[in-house]
Amino acid sequence: MALLKKLKRALCAWWTGCRIRREARQAFRYDMREFMAGAGALHLDRRAAARAEIVMAYHVLEKGLTMPRRRLGFGQGAVLHLMSLVESFERRFGDDGQVRHAVGVLRAYREMHSGRQWNMPRLDAFLSSRAGIPAAVEPHVKRADFFAAKDAPFPVFAASRHVVRHFAGAVPRREIEAAVEIATTAPSACNRQHARVHAVDDPALRDRLFAMQRGTRGFGADADKVLVVTADLSSVRWAWERHDAYVNGGIFVMNLCYALHSRGIAHCILHWSVPPDVDRRAHALLGIPSCEAIVQVIACGMPPEEFDVAASPRLSAGDILTWHGGGRDDGCRGGTAS
Ligand SMILES: Cc1cc2nc3c(=O)[nH]c(=O)nc-3n(C[C@H](O)[C@H](O)[C@H](O)COP(=O)(O)O)c2cc1C
Repeated sequence: MALLKKLKRALCAWWTGCRIRREARQAFRYDMREFMAGAGALHLDRRAAARAEIVMAYHVLEKGLTMPRRRLGFGQGAVLHLMSLVESFERRFGDDGQVRHAVGVLRAYREMHSGRQWNMPRLDAFLSSRAGIPAAVEPHVKRADFFAAKDAPFPVFAASRHVVRHFAGAVPRREIEAAVEIATTAPSACNRQHARVHAVDDPALRDRLFAMQRGTRGFGADADKVLVVTADLSSVRWAWERHDAYVNGGIFVMNLCYALHSRGIAHCILHWSVPPDVDRRAHALLGIPSCEAIVQVIACGMPPEEFDVAASPRLSAGDILTWHGGGRDDGCRGGTAS
């Protein structure tokens, strides 16, 4: 009898495994088709994709304008590229707030070089034909002011958080532990708590990791600690939950960033958009189990007394909120609910 039960359980597990593998193949095939049909990189003729390309391009310059060790003449190729993207966008789609910010960033770049013997005739012509757009302001802040909103109401606190690429001191381990403790309040599907954190406290490991990540040029070497947030795939139960590691991990990352900010720790979120071989090498470098997916990397450090942050202006709620259905108008339509 016991043997029969055991056999039945094994058969059941085998059958469920077969079903989940089949569904996973179906789901990932679906994802691939959706990606091919939707990814901006493959459809630059779309307004949103063209705008995203411009935001990425101006962000490179915006970062350069706010770097700890700024150098004159940086990013000249990026300037030319951004100008041609803006011109092409304006021709095809007309006016846009983010595109205007791109022009503002180019003007700020020009102003940084004014009076320093830099001839930029192409940029000057570009800017003079858009004279109504002022230079973007990349905030220069004092540390005390930047972290002053830690006890403020949430909208004020949330607006005060920005990534910082200026690090000047060591963060005690207990501070990181306290922030991770706060971050554990993040919600997760069925409370399965997928997120794990691998804290790197060794400059050699940091440098090797950043060399793989390639998003920290000009500031990574100043970071005191690096947090690698992973999600344990062991918590994923069905094929349809294939994105859950990243969804739950991403929610955790946001909570962790707020926690770091609330404790006066400067952080810079770093992508983990890397090819499979790099992902495997990073797992090996840090001894991260293969069942944990790397979701995000966060550089941390104590900030200097004063520093610059990139403006990174946002779309408004009206730009991104779509109501479906004709329910009563409770005053929130197209704006922020307060
Ligand atoms: C998923 C993700 C990946 C990012 N990757 C990088 C990166 O590799 N290097 C970097 O300097 N900043 C990176 N950032 C920081 C963004 O540039 C920054 O969050 C964005 O411009 C908004 O600015 P704010 O966080 O200061 O408000 C990343 C942010 C996110 C959310």
